[in-house]
Amino acid sequence: MILLLLLLFFSFINLATSSELCFDSHCTGDYQTIRFPFRIVNGQPKSCGYPGFDLSCHPTGEPLLHLPHSGDFIVQNIDYMHQEIRINDPDYCLPKKILYLNLSGSPFVKKNSQTVAFFNCSSNYIPYWYNDPIYCLSSHSHTVYASSSPMLINMFESNCAMIKTVSVPSSFSYSSNLWEYLLLKWENPDCGRCESVGQRCEVKSNSSNEIQCTDSQGRSRVGANVVSIAMGVVAAVICFLGVLCCLCFKINFRRRGSSSSIAHWTVSSQRTRTMGLNGATIESYPKFVLDESLSLPKPNNNVCPICLAQYQPKEIVKSIPNCQHCFHECCIDEWLRLKASCPVCRKSPIEAPPSNPS
Ligand SMILES: *[C@@H]1O[C@H](CO)[C@@H](O)[C@H](O)[C@H]1NC(C)=O
Ligand SMILES: *[C@@H]1O[C@H](CO)[C@@H](O)[C@H](O)[C@H]1NC(C)=O
Ligand SMILES: *[C@@H]1O[C@H](CO)[C@@H](O)[C@H](O)[C@H]1NC(C)=O
Repeated sequence: MILLLLLLFFSFINLATSSELCFDSHCTGDYQTIRFPFRIVNGQPKSCGYPGFDLSCHPTGEPLLHLPHSGDFIVQNIDYMHQEIRINDPDYCLPKKILYLNLSGSPFVKKNSQTVAFFNCSSNYIPYWYNDPIYCLSSHSHTVYASSSPMLINMFESNCAMIKTVSVPSSFSYSSNLWEYLLLKWENPDCGRCESVGQRCEVKSNSSNEIQCTDSQGRSRVGANVVSIAMGVVAAVICFLGVLCCLCFKINFRRRGSSSSIAHWTVSSQRTRTMGLNGATIESYPKFVLDESLSLPKPNNNVCPICLAQYQPKEIVKSIPNCQHCFHECCIDEWLRLKASCPVCRKSPIEAPPSNPS
């Protein structure tokens, strides 16, 4: 009987308070956790986010960030502790977004350390050194190249018109660097210090910009106190009334309460999934060595969509089973470790169960 009453109190409290709390969220089809300072517009109340950090959900199910002067970006990863965000272009032309990036009016700044120069060359001009054209910026009469090598920049300068130099992060290793992601960081709100000690962050209740750390449940300490006081009061009241309550009324209430807490558990247990595929799955995908005819399972223009380099005989190419799109093995492996989807069609490959370590 007492147990029954206790259950009743807890489920009642849960129902009464959950609407005001900011729970972690995510877009369907993506496991990136979205929490303060980010929030999903139309999904979480305004107080759950910080101005400039509003996200929406792209039709593909990934979070979308809108920058006032640079348009929409797919959010690949948010590092709450280091206050960094990795974004990409939903229209698959990240170099174009990087070339024309204007972050004014947004809380973000670039994490830069390497200079890349963009050149606009006549299509008649073919550089005799190895350099990949940026097809999505080029036209039939002009071809756009980008390079970070001072030597190549020098050679391009004497043959082409420089469009612009831009700074990009230097954590990249090969020529796909302008295609992988754009790394931005934010200074304000400074929630990294809360995140680094396992806490969450929120706006102080009556101020628009000041923030404070909260416990990891996403519920402020003040909030928690209010809840426990409320719990005490409600418990006392229901103790008196509970004895008089009829049994069927209680059972009805308990059902509603427990189904709602099961819903919360399901949401929170999904949060911790990593984004990429495991090594065994990536290793299991079909790969083959290109012959002289460069024949691929699917007709294409013989360019690896990730690094944009022409395939060469004897290179190892890997295809994704359910869509058959092909890539250099080293390119797609790197991608799949970060993202469990085909970079061309964004279909999610099926994940094999992790192999048993034995
Ligand atoms: C960014 O865009 C704003 C508004 O169009 C403009 O005023 C500003 O000069 C731009 N900044 C740069 C660096 O182009
Ligand atoms: C390259 O130059 C041509 C001719 O001046 C121009 O029409 C084209 O828009 C330029 N492309 C870029 C990406 O700047
Ligand atoms: C909190 O904000 C409300 C509405 O903006 C205002 O009426 C109230 O005076 C504020 N209270 C404090 C303590 O600042």
